[in-house]
Amino acid sequence: MENPRYEKALSDPIFEVISSAASQLGLEAYVVGGFVRDYFLERGEQKDIDVVAIGSGIDLAKKVSQLLPGKPKVNVFKNFGTAMIRQGNLQLEFVGARKESYRKDSRKPIVEDGTLEEDQQRRDFTINAMALDLRPDTFGTLLDPFEGMADLNQGLIRTPLEPGITYSDDPLRMIRAIRFATQLNFQIIPESLQAIEENRDRIRIVSRERIVDELQKIMAAKQPSVGLALLHKTGLLEYILPELTALQGIEEIEGQRHKDNFWHTLEVVDNISKKTDNLWLRWAALLHDIGKAPTKRFDKNIGWTFHGHEFVGSKMVYPLFKRLRLPLNEHMKYVKKVVRLSSRPVSLSDDHVTDSAVRRLIFDAGADVEDLMTLCEADITTKNPRKQRRYLKNFQEVRKKIKEVEARDRIRNFQPPVSGETIMKTFDLKPSREIGLIKEAIKEAILEGEIPNKQEDAHRYMIHKGLELGLKLSNEALKNLSEDD
Ligand code: CTP
Repeated sequence: MENPRYEKALSDPIFEVISSAASQLGLEAYVVGGFVRDYFLERGEQKDIDVVAIGSGIDLAKKVSQLLPGKPKVNVFKNFGTAMIRQGNLQLEFVGARKESYRKDSRKPIVEDGTLEEDQQRRDFTINAMALDLRPDTFGTLLDPFEGMADLNQGLIRTPLEPGITYSDDPLRMIRAIRFATQLNFQIIPESLQAIEENRDRIRIVSRERIVDELQKIMAAKQPSVGLALLHKTGLLEYILPELTALQGIEEIEGQRHKDNFWHTLEVVDNISKKTDNLWLRWAALLHDIGKAPTKRFDKNIGWTFHGHEFVGSKMVYPLFKRLRLPLNEHMKYVKKVVRLSSRPVSLSDDHVTDSAVRRLIFDAGADVEDLMTLCEADITTKNPRKQRRYLKNFQEVRKKIKEVEARDRIRNFQPPVSGETIMKTFDLKPSREIGLIKEAIKEAILEGEIPNKQEDAHRYMIHKGLELGLKLSNEALKNLSEDD
């Protein structure tokens, strides 16, 4: 049977250019990998295009650049035998077809030039091993020796070779399998899943950066729990996020049980993913309970407690981010903060909510107070519909209260209404401890609702507080006071 042709997939003019460059060099060229897969999955325009040449990928890239307007720069990676060109919003990667085999006693591959089919079989999955022909006479022909199209139609993740070989060639592929299963809602075939479980220890040789790239894609998916559960099931999660696997299990003492905080966390992550694409809020959901493993205690009178788990959990965020090579910038600080505050709205929703408690929450959470509420709502995983409705309603109340209080008191971006300089001038002070005391007292008075968050009221309160501390007003301050009268 003749192979089907898909010229439409190659309608971008760039493919004609690559095709003539290859012809001029007397080479064969093919498009492979994610571009082909995503075309058939109708996943929208792919910007990354992988081209395989039978011969030198670097030579082909150089020729392509010559034929393009402006002759874009060719980035050559000699060690890998690859070259890259950026053209508009496209990123073109060129590589020569390779036959790669691994010696038993060494991880260094023997790389030899190979045929297209040899190149396809050393790729990760059948759905990523389909090629579209760029030769002029057969332009657009699909070359699919490992039946990637059938797997694509059935939603299956399968390796072209025996899975043990494919995974041990590059153990990152174990996580990639799980990432694709999560993103595409595909099934990893049982034999492959078993091979991942057997080879899981090999993940140790993969760099953290590459692992985290895949993990981020799992976290960004519609339902991250699919990937997280697979990572757990295959034993990989233990290597990546042991803080999370430590939450698994239910203990029972004297007939009292606590919930399984691992599976609960996965539900929370899915819940929040329906509400937000903010990756770092999803991370906060993933980590919001990690302090529960180290703080778990059984108290005869109260039952299970996780006292201070938010605080302990937030302390675990920095070392965890550092270990995984996640950014240690404001994203880390945000996750840390949201974890630390994650139970605060719950305590507010219990009973009667006081304005001062709401003001304190807004003060502590600042601009992230909405995100915090989103997390608390996602944290409701009770299967009892009555309870669920009640909790949600309580949080609605808290949200309403936050709006009211914020409209009145503007605490969200709190700036001290009286500066240190004003305090020094008012009491003829040099930099000293009293300034901090007065500033803190003003802030507390505002948060407690004793005075409004207004400059005039804060000024009056400053004088009152200073006199109470035994300070004397400066001449200038005295003059201003008498003028006010
Ligand atoms: N590939 C592989 N083994 C890996 C990584 C990549 O065999 N560990 C091959 C696959 O054929 C893959 C291609 O290289 O399709 C390109 O890899 P990459 O750009 O990382 O992924 P894509 O498949 O393009 O998918 P995505 O864009 O979603 O990352």
